[in-house]
Amino acid sequence: MSKAASLPSDITSALPPGYTIRELQKSDRADVLSVLAVLTTVGDITDTAWDERFDYISKHDDTYTILCIVDDEGKVCATGSLIVERKFIRNCGLVGHIEDIAVAKDKQGKKLGLRMINALDYIAERSGCYKSILDCSESNRVFYEKCGFKFAGIEMAHYY
Ligand code: ACO
Repeated sequence: MSKAASLPSDITSALPPGYTIRELQKSDRADVLSVLAVLTTVGDITDTAWDERFDYISKHDDTYTILCIVDDEGKVCATGSLIVERKFIRNCGLVGHIEDIAVAKDKQGKKLGLRMINALDYIAERSGCYKSILDCSESNRVFYEKCGFKFAGIEMAHYY
C-alpha cells in the first residue's frame, strides 16, 4: 500500500470536498513546479532533470516522501516533503525533516497546508521517527504552531 493510501480518514476526510492527497507522480511536473514557485526560485528544470530526480526519489522511497493535494479539477494545488534521516544517536534513531511545503496562492487559507503537515507528520511517526523538525521564517511560525510544532532554536545556513 502506498504511504498516502495508509493515511487515516481524519486527515483525508478533512480535505475540502473533491480534494485528494496522494504521492507525487511523474506526470505532476508542470503543476508541482508551479506550486513550488510560491516558496522559492525553482529554476528551469528540463524533462531529463525532472525524470532523473523523480526516479532517484522513487528508488529511495524509504527516505523520501513527497505528497500532493489534488483539487476537485484534478490539479495539484499543494505539496510537501518528508525526508527520513538515519542517525547513530538515540539508538540509531530516525528524524523526519519536513521540507518544501507549498500551497498554490489561490488555494491558501483552506487548511491545505495544515492537512499536508498532518499527513507528513503521520507518515514520519509511522516510519519510526522520534521527532520531526523543520526550518521556517518568523512569518510562518504561527502556522507551524497551529500544526502542533514548537519553537526549538534557530536555523543557521551556509550557502554555496
Ligand atoms: N501566519 C499566521 N497564521 C497562519 C499563516 C501565517 N503565515 N498561514 C496560515 N496560518 C494559519 C491559518 O490562519 C489557519 O489558522 P486557523 O486554524 O486558526 O484558521 C492555520 O494556520 C492553518 O492554515 P492553512 O489554511 O492550512 O494554511 P495554508 O493552506 O494557506 O498553508 C502555507 C500555509 C504553507 C504557509 C502557505 O500559505 C504557503 O504555501 N505559503 C508560501 C510558501 C511557504 O511559506 N511555505 C512554508 C515554507 S517553510 C517549509 O517548507 C518547512
